[in-house]
Amino acid sequence: MPTFILAHRGASKYTPENTMPAFHLAYRMQADGIETDVQLTKDEIPVLIHDENVRRTTDGTGFVQDYTFEQLRMLDAGGWFSKEFEGLRIPSLEELLEWIRDYPLFLHLELKTDVISYNNIEQIVYDLLSKYEVLDRTCISSFNEGSIINMKAINPSVETAYLTSTKMRKLFTYLNSLPADDVHVKHTILGRRLVYQCRKNKVPLRVYTVNKPSLLRKCFRFEIAGVFTDVPDIAWSVRAAEERGT
Ligand code: G3P
Ligand code: MG
Repeated sequence: MPTFILAHRGASKYTPENTMPAFHLAYRMQADGIETDVQLTKDEIPVLIHDENVRRTTDGTGFVQDYTFEQLRMLDAGGWFSKEFEGLRIPSLEELLEWIRDYPLFLHLELKTDVISYNNIEQIVYDLLSKYEVLDRTCISSFNEGSIINMKAINPSVETAYLTSTKMRKLFTYLNSLPADDVHVKHTILGRRLVYQCRKNKVPLRVYTVNKPSLLRKCFRFEIAGVFTDVPDIAWSVRAAEERGT
């Protein structure tokens, strides 16, 4: 199995993160899958935006949870990136699912529940994944173990991943206590020992955010399950070179 290339927030080096053009470009750059972040609006519509607050990636201010979906759709989610992308809207999860169901892409949905615990987000997301029949190629991840537990309680066959940015001495004891199938770690904690332990425990390992060719090469040589990258095109050429042995 090759190390999968997963476009982090879409092809986010080249297009505004977590927007439809970022997902489309990731597909054209031959990514194996897409990673995106899910938050809930005031009227409980799952939307794709990384921060709890709209300030950084739109022309608005305030929290996603204080906007209705209709209000949120008035915001410009592209102008902050460049003039060329002015007028883009924050996508709903449903908009992404409508598109992705016809494309051979894996989907990594990160539930952003570590700061705000959105009521019922797991069930709302699950129902949409089920409606669009993409459950078998979706992995639900979260820094909040509560979301993983809730998702597995809805359906134990949904693939889940625990996200961590810190080196944990007892990571595997902790993982064993969770209904998480996989682990996603920040690149700074990637090392030979972690790779070995994941293999021994049969826990798929994915690493974020891997943009430098040297680090991408290291991940491919470790044969981990996946890399989350803002530059799927670069990742693709590094992986192709590794496969050719050049
Ligand atoms: O899912 C991996 C990665 O996206 C986690 O960090 O902050 O980029 O959402 P962040
Ligand atoms: Mg994320």
